[in-house]
Amino acid sequence: MSTFWSIWISAIVLGTVFGCWWLLHATRKSQTTDVETDRTVGHSFDGIEEYDNPLPKWWFYLYIATCIFALGYLALYPGLGNYKGLLNWTSANQWEAEIADADEKYGPIYAQYGQTPVEELSKDGDALKIGQRLFANNCAVCHGSAARGQVGFPNLTDDDWLWGGTPEAILETLHNGRMGNMPAKGVMPNMTNEQVDQVVNYVLSFSGREKDAAAAEAGKAVFAQACVACHGPEGKGMQVLGAPNLTDNVWLYGSNYEWIKETVLHGRQNQMPAQSGRLSEDQIQILAAYVYSLSN
Ligand code: HEC
Ligand code: HEC
Repeated sequence: MSTFWSIWISAIVLGTVFGCWWLLHATRKSQTTDVETDRTVGHSFDGIEEYDNPLPKWWFYLYIATCIFALGYLALYPGLGNYKGLLNWTSANQWEAEIADADEKYGPIYAQYGQTPVEELSKDGDALKIGQRLFANNCAVCHGSAARGQVGFPNLTDDDWLWGGTPEAILETLHNGRMGNMPAKGVMPNMTNEQVDQVVNYVLSFSGREKDAAAAEAGKAVFAQACVACHGPEGKGMQVLGAPNLTDNVWLYGSNYEWIKETVLHGRQNQMPAQSGRLSEDQIQILAAYVYSLSN
C-alpha cells in the first residue's frame, strides 16, 4: 500500500475514535449537574416532555472503555495502514502456527502409518479414512470421488491395471507419476488407411466384435508388425509400458470402432502426475494403501 493511502486510512480510523471521545466530552460540558433532577429540556410534543439528565455513569465509562479498547487493539494488531502492530500478527503467521500445531499432533500418527507396509495398512480402518480424505482432495478431480475414473482416467476400483496393482507398482505410480504413450499407428508410421481399418477390426475381434471378418484376418499381420512390441502377441498388454490389455472389456477410452480407430490414427498421450514433492512420503503410503484397498 502506498504511503498516501496508509496515512489516509490511519487518519480516518484515528479521527473516528478521537471524534467519538470528543463528542462525549463536548456534550457533557453543557451539563450543569451530575445528579438526576426533574428538570426537562423545555420542549413538549403532544404533552410528551424530556428530562434533561446526565448520561448514566456506567454508560459513560463503558463508552470511554470502548475507545480505549479500540486504541489498544490498533496498537497491537495491524489496523492502521502499513503499521504492522506490536504483536506482528498476520493471517499467514496464524495459519503457519496452526499447521505446525497440526503437524505436531498428527505427525506421529502419519509417521507410524508411513512405516507400515501397504498391504497391512490397507486393512487399517483409521488409515483408510485418512486415505479417503486425501483421495478426495488430491485425486478425485481426475479419478472421480468413487475412484471409478472416466474417459482417459483409469478406474482404480477394478483389478485391471495399466501399470500394475501390486503395492510396489502403486507406490511407483504415485511417487514418480506415469506417462502413457501410445504412438500414432504404433511403430508403423507408413500404415495405410486400409491397414488401419484392418488392425482396428483385428482388435475388435479380441472381444468378438469385428465388423468385417476378412479385414480382421488381414489385420493380424499388421498387428504383429505395428502393435505387438507393446500390446504383446495376444494383445494382452504390458504393464511395464502401461500398454493396456485389449482383450478384456475394460477400456480407458471408448471401445467401439470409431474410438479405437481414433487411438490408432492419432495415438494417445496421457499423464498421471508425480506426487513426490506434492505430498509427503507418509501421505503417499496412506494413499497407496487406500488405492490398494479398493480392489483387494
Ligand atoms: C491430473 C489428473 C490426475 C490426478 C490429479 C491424479 N491422477 Fe492418477 N492417473 C491419471 C491418469 C491420466 C492416469 C493414467 C496414466 C496412463 O494412461 O498411463 C492415472 C493413473 C493412475 C494410477 C495407475 C492405474 C493403473 O491402472 O495402473 C493410479 C494407481 C493412480 N493414477 C492413482 C492416483 C492417486 C492416488 C492420485 C491422487 C494422489 C491420482 N492418481 C491423481 C490422472 C491423474
Ligand atoms: C510404443 C508402444 C505402443 C505401441 C507400438 C502401440 N500401442 Fe496402443 N497403447 C500403448 C499405450 C501406452 C496405451 C495407453 C495410452 C494411455 O495411457 O492413454 C495404448 C492404448 C491403446 C488403445 C486404447 C485402449 C483402451 O483401453 O482404451 C488401443 C485401442 C491401442 N492402444 C491399440 C493399438 C494398436 C492397434 C496398435 C498397433 C497399430 C498399438 N496400439 C500400438 C502403447 C502402444
